[in-house]
Amino acid sequence: MGEMRSAERSLQDADGESRFQASRGIRRKNETHTAQWLVRALAALLILILSSTSASASETNVQALAPQKILERRCAPCHQRLPDGGYSRISRIRAVPEAWDMTIIRMRRVQHARVSPTEQAQLVKYLADSQGLAPDEAAPYRYILERRPNYIEQIPNAQLGLVCGSCHSLGRVGLERRPADEWLKLANFHLGQFPSLEYHSRLRSVQWWEIASTQMPAELEKRFPFDSAAWKRWSEHKSADLSGEWRVTGHEPGAGDYRGALVIAKSDGDDRYSVHWRLNFERGKSIRGDGSAILYTGYEWRASTTLDGKAVRQVLAVAPDGESMTGRWYYTETDERGGEMRAVRIKAGTSQVLAVQPSSIVSRAFAPARIDEG
Ligand code: HEC
Ligand code: HEC
Repeated sequence: MGEMRSAERSLQDADGESRFQASRGIRRKNETHTAQWLVRALAALLILILSSTSASASETNVQALAPQKILERRCAPCHQRLPDGGYSRISRIRAVPEAWDMTIIRMRRVQHARVSPTEQAQLVKYLADSQGLAPDEAAPYRYILERRPNYIEQIPNAQLGLVCGSCHSLGRVGLERRPADEWLKLANFHLGQFPSLEYHSRLRSVQWWEIASTQMPAELEKRFPFDSAAWKRWSEHKSADLSGEWRVTGHEPGAGDYRGALVIAKSDGDDRYSVHWRLNFERGKSIRGDGSAILYTGYEWRASTTLDGKAVRQVLAVAPDGESMTGRWYYTETDERGGEMRAVRIKAGTSQVLAVQPSSIVSRAFAPARIDEG
């Protein structure tokens, strides 16, 4: 049975590394020389079969099939295939890209799922696109995506704040959507992974498991449901092509107001772009940088760029009409440092006021006001 499983794997896995793993598994189970010889001959035969199957696979649209295949190879060994074509647990959660990334990291760390960084990136893109959050659903929790420092969350309900917001932000909860039974499984996971949970921080005085397993699943489903009209509408939306020139305005605490430009061009792959940007600060400093970006779920702009030689990440939400973006950028090494940013696409023949800098002046003092037009 073990050998059958290994043989199956070597047929399924196209990459050299996993074939090596599979044949190592076979070798351990066959101690005599003859058996080893036989198994090697069989393995060679399987590799032959493999090369002929991959030849026919390459005729189909590999790009479109890739994430589905990754799910099948890397996740299906543990996540059962459902009759509707999805996978247990995976298909009943919607989440923002960062939340999918976090779950897959956990699968690797705790469950030892074998997923390469490239496969992980492909899965995050695929899952965030097909099971993401609508812009309106993510809007109240963007502070956590944008890594805003010193943000005080609005806690809508004291019990929810205590039971689910004692260890991490409620934003982490609000950026995922599940039906009640999936919220219950998440509570099971918490207790399973952190058995001393009820003695943590503020939870000693609370019957955590009782509340998390009885009242919370329905409460969480009501607030953060899997099925929603907003997602149904958004999932039919087509991503805008963001390439072109954009005018940007914003403010970096400590550095002041700035204006500048963002030049976006399409690069290889769906929703992938190259980015060049320049910021001119009111106090005279002018800095620039470049990098690449991915658009998730049709509106979640994530760019990894440089700015003045330092690594910077842009986390912006694209407006539904694809004509403006708002959010924050931060230095990846010190994410509390960064700036607010608004970008508006430059369209020939149109103009609008984007910002007034400075935004206010001291009464009776004189300061020249500048109006930015885009
Ligand atoms: C070796 C077994 C194993 C593999 C491989 C595996 N998982 Fe899991 N997965 C689990 C187990 C066990 C749980 C439940 C415990 C938990 O949530 O950590 C789980 C839970 C999950 C959940 C629910 C998490 C939550 O927050 O409630 C998701 C989503 C998920 N896995 C996705 C994936 C994806 C995507 C892959 C493939 C990249 C994958 N898993 C591969 C074993 C696995
Ligand atoms: C004892 C502290 C603690 C409490 C209380 C707690 N969490 Fe968590 N939660 C964590 C930690 C730690 C992680 C990260 C687990 C990991 O990635 O290994 C986490 C992860 C999560 C995630 C991300 C799961 C994923 O797949 O990446 C969600 C969503 C979540 N918690 C929701 C909740 C909800 C809902 C409640 C209330 C029922 C809750 N948490 C209560 C500590 C807590």
